[in-house]
Amino acid sequence: MTLKFSIAADAPEAAAVPSIVVGVYEDRSLTPSALRIDERSGGALTRLLESSDANGKAGSVAALFHLPNIVSPRVVLAGLGEQKKLDAAAYYRAVTESARALKSMPIDSALSFLTDVDVPGKDTAWKLRTAALAADAQAYRYTATFKPKEKPKTPSLESLAFVAAANDPKTLRALTEAAAIAKGVRFARELGNLPPNICNPAYVADQAKKIADEHPGVTLEVLDRDAMQKLGMGSLLGVSQGSANAPRLVVLRWNGGKDKEKPYALVGKGITFDSGGISLKPGAGMEEMKFDMCGGAGVLGTFVAAVELKLPLNIVCIVPAVENMPDGNAYRPSDILTSMSGLTIEVLNTDAEGRLILCDALTYAQKFDPQVIIDAATLTGACVVALGKHASGLMTKDDALADELLKAGNETMDRAWRLPLWDDYQQQLESGFADVANIGGKYAGAITAACFLSRFVNGARWAHLDIAGTAWDEGRKGLATGRPVPMLTQYLIDRSA
Ligand code: BES
Ligand code: MN
Ligand code: ZN
Repeated sequence: MTLKFSIAADAPEAAAVPSIVVGVYEDRSLTPSALRIDERSGGALTRLLESSDANGKAGSVAALFHLPNIVSPRVVLAGLGEQKKLDAAAYYRAVTESARALKSMPIDSALSFLTDVDVPGKDTAWKLRTAALAADAQAYRYTATFKPKEKPKTPSLESLAFVAAANDPKTLRALTEAAAIAKGVRFARELGNLPPNICNPAYVADQAKKIADEHPGVTLEVLDRDAMQKLGMGSLLGVSQGSANAPRLVVLRWNGGKDKEKPYALVGKGITFDSGGISLKPGAGMEEMKFDMCGGAGVLGTFVAAVELKLPLNIVCIVPAVENMPDGNAYRPSDILTSMSGLTIEVLNTDAEGRLILCDALTYAQKFDPQVIIDAATLTGACVVALGKHASGLMTKDDALADELLKAGNETMDRAWRLPLWDDYQQQLESGFADVANIGGKYAGAITAACFLSRFVNGARWAHLDIAGTAWDEGRKGLATGRPVPMLTQYLIDRSA
């Protein structure tokens, strides 16, 4: 369950809630709500800042309890850093860290005054939505595969209110959008976090069925191995043939738009586990390859958010769900696969499997005569080398589409950075035995992967998002992030305006 969001109009000192949140700057100046608390409490905040027990540094948090003349028993001070440096990223950090503090307290609800922070160029609706999404990301806990715990004796955060004008349709819309995006993000995170012995291709299809069952108007088609064979998806099936878990191709549709309007096609890489196949990956870190379906989870999560919002658009969401395993029957380096498009592919590395399932999914997507195709995939380690864990890689030849996606990413703090998709790189994919090779050598791996995909889109309006660095947090306790659900949902919201 996501957090419940609402709007309130209480004065800071009078709010009868378990905790309130107010912002302070690094130069010890106070936001309007913090100033009010300071005045009513006889200078409690000023004294704290003077004693350096709180410093207002960006991302720092301090909690005060039972202040005189303040109704709420807890006041969380969110550090905003230097006032003149406060930008969207600093705000995001402050709302994230204050939500983390709330989550650690034995309380079920809180009221945030961080909507009164001045963020240049951003309105209340943006602040509200950003704070709500950041809080929900902090509130999420993965529990699915732990021994069930007894019900905890202390409450934990369930609802969060924001101070704003309750009659402004823009702020109400922001709350609705935050709730829908949060739902989509949670869906993507949960699917991403599940282990591959649970989240296999059939499980992905079951989750899609759940989406269709829970949302009137959504239709689902699931293609099994035979159906894909009939369509000639030799590339996708080549990847799947070493796995005991049979592949699925999931196709969800939402027709919220006009009858004749062309759909937006979202395609997501759904490798439920990427061992590398016969080109086996090294053991260290291989467990992270359970996240290799995060592109698929991301487009499904986006679909959930879009349908929750009942966006007036036609959307088709396509997820090839496949496991990449070594086996006596597995595909091998030097195999030639025939894709659904008819193009033949020389497999030079079975670990470059994402593009091999996506190419057939992209060909299939064109059956729906889409106005735009966007794919999301944990496609290359090279993208992580290039951009790190902060930006997704965006590759498209369409400048307008690039700008729309970059804008949506900036708006939701789910940012991407564009890499070139020039034809100059195409020659790296030449093969002596097939129309195209599945790897492009050691340079520009993220780009040559996109170049491979480009050969299957036949000039359609198309963009590729490489989310290899952004889809999950690294480390033993690293969780799926739910990216790029916020960016893609915002992109669709913008299209429906
Ligand atoms: N799923 C991986 C990409 C990946 C690697 C994502 C590490 C996140 C972290 C993909 O299937 C893969 O193995 N790509 C290869 C391509 C290479 C063989 C051309 C890679 O990036 O090494
Ligand atoms: Mn791989
Ligand atoms: Zn992969």
